Amino acid sequence: MKEVLEDFEDFLKTHDTSIFKSFHPYFQNAFWEMVVNGGKRFRPSLFFSIVLANKKEIIKESFVIALAIEVLHTYSLIHDDLPAMDNSPLRRSHPTLHIKYDETSAILSGDALNTYAFYLISNSNFNENIKTKLIQSLSFGALKMVLGQACDCYFENNILNKDEVDFIHINKTAALIASSLEMGGIIADCTQEEINRLHQFGIKLGLYFQIRDDILDATSKEINEGKPINNDSNKNSYVNLLGINKAQKAKDKLKNILLSELQSMKKDIKDNLEQLLQVY
Ligand code: IPE
Ligand code: IPE
Ligand code: MG
Ligand code: MG
Ligand code: MG
Repeated sequence: MKEVLEDFEDFLKTHDTSIFKSFHPYFQNAFWEMVVNGGKRFRPSLFFSIVLANKKEIIKESFVIALAIEVLHTYSLIHDDLPAMDNSPLRRSHPTLHIKYDETSAILSGDALNTYAFYLISNSNFNENIKTKLIQSLSFGALKMVLGQACDCYFENNILNKDEVDFIHINKTAALIASSLEMGGIIADCTQEEINRLHQFGIKLGLYFQIRDDILDATSKEINEGKPINNDSNKNSYVNLLGINKAQKAKDKLKNILLSELQSMKKDIKDNLEQLLQVY
């Protein structure tokens, strides 16, 4: 996996962005910059975990699909950081686009990446049936992400109950994580039943990942996260809902559920996902 992620990093750094070549002084750089600025590449790692386990001979061809997932996710981060949303100056250890350039360029970079993800898939070499399924999965995850973000922002400064907070977390974060696993299953010839199971697992994993993110906001350091911490004071985060100790317990409980669900998955998928869960 380590080697795959290194190759993937080269792949995205050398990506041809000439589709946005123009006389604009910086848009071509701005729209791609946050993609190459790093991040944990958690969603590509999930996707690669399935491809490596089930059809590793297509790993190189699958890079463009992992890129589409990461590009879509990066759009969500650029918009999440805008003044109208979480108003954040730092992302992936770099100034956010609306700080470095201007708000217009940040909004349009997000718009561009959102569409670009589907452009990449539709222009890839997979067959039409697989491409349609990939687009269905990624668009569904992206739509749910937007719904979650809408609720997250609308209910700032309103105290929601646990089911409502779970709804937000599952939509804004888990849906795209579920799509990442599902898309791995789609290109790696998993059965529909296996794909459905990957989706269900991804929803729980995504909830876990967002609870973890909420806890890090309260406990970590900006230098470690590459983004501001203590930024969730007016949010329906797990920490604000339950307090730090109970949030931690909820996270540990979910992790145990995830680890036990992995036991009934195909060995190679189980091994790869278990390894990823060790890191997170
Ligand atoms: C941040 O996602 C937003 C959440 C859903 C918590 P990541 O934590 O995966 O951010 P990057 O990709 O590593 O920057
Ligand atoms: C964002 O959740 C989820 C997205 C869809 C981008 P957060 O607002 O908690 O993510 P961070 O903490 O800014 O990365
Ligand atoms: Mg947010
Ligand atoms: Mg945010
Ligand atoms: Mg957060």
